[in-house]
Amino acid sequence: MALFKKKDDDTAFPEVLPAHVGFIMDGNGRWAKKRGLPRPFGHREGAKTFRKIVRHCKDIGLQNISFYAFSTENWQRPADEVQAIMNIFREYLDDVRELLTENTRMVFLGSKDAFDEDIQQKMFKIEDETRNCSEMTLMLAANYGGRDDIAHAAKILAEKVRNGEISPDEITESMIAENLYTAGYPDVDLVIRPSGEMRLSNYLIWQCAYAEYYFTNILWPDFTPDELDKALIEYASRQRRFGGV
Ligand code: IPE
Ligand code: IPE
Ligand code: MG
Repeated sequence: MALFKKKDDDTAFPEVLPAHVGFIMDGNGRWAKKRGLPRPFGHREGAKTFRKIVRHCKDIGLQNISFYAFSTENWQRPADEVQAIMNIFREYLDDVRELLTENTRMVFLGSKDAFDEDIQQKMFKIEDETRNCSEMTLMLAANYGGRDDIAHAAKILAEKVRNGEISPDEITESMIAENLYTAGYPDVDLVIRPSGEMRLSNYLIWQCAYAEYYFTNILWPDFTPDELDKALIEYASRQRRFGGV
């Protein structure tokens, strides 16, 4: 078990924090269904939880956090649900003040091309406005798929081969990593997936090669800062070997 130090509020807290925590925000639909509400209510509540958890991550000193908000496969959902999610996304993107006051950089993982023009413009604007924020990086995976990420990197490298910049046998793992959407950010140390599902669902598949996993039955809208602390404490007790002994 790793060393524990005391936080300001006197609660035990792990000394060793993951360099990158990835959150799979799952269970919004079931949260709404349990209450007899249409699914978009769950997404709206999930967005509130997202804001709360981002703030907590900043308070406890995490440096890199990523959130799976919408997958490349989620476009298959009924049009009205996709529309509702896009509208929640629009509203969120309209208010970046909190990111600026919290000195948080925001980057998007995934191709922006699939979004309506106004959403794309808002995404570029946030990335631009928070470019120099340096205390924490918040990655939002939107229209993200791990396989798409790798295929996208492969296309960039193939282009370099065609231009004669590199030869195929010069391609290394780090060159692939440098062309993923997460380029420059650490691999995922800890994946947190609520809602009881125990799978990656195409999230950061390359970057999670040696990640630790924390699963809980809590639905994302009910996820709390305390639950995150629990995950971090459990993470601190894991023995990672990376193939060594
Ligand atoms: C996650 O919640 C949000 C998105 C995938 C956009 P879900 O909408 O998948 O909720 P469940 O899994 O149906 O409960
Ligand atoms: C994963 O959740 C995607 C996001 C949380 C954005 P899904 O609900 O789409 O995953 P599956 O379909 O249960 O694997
Ligand atoms: Mg789901």
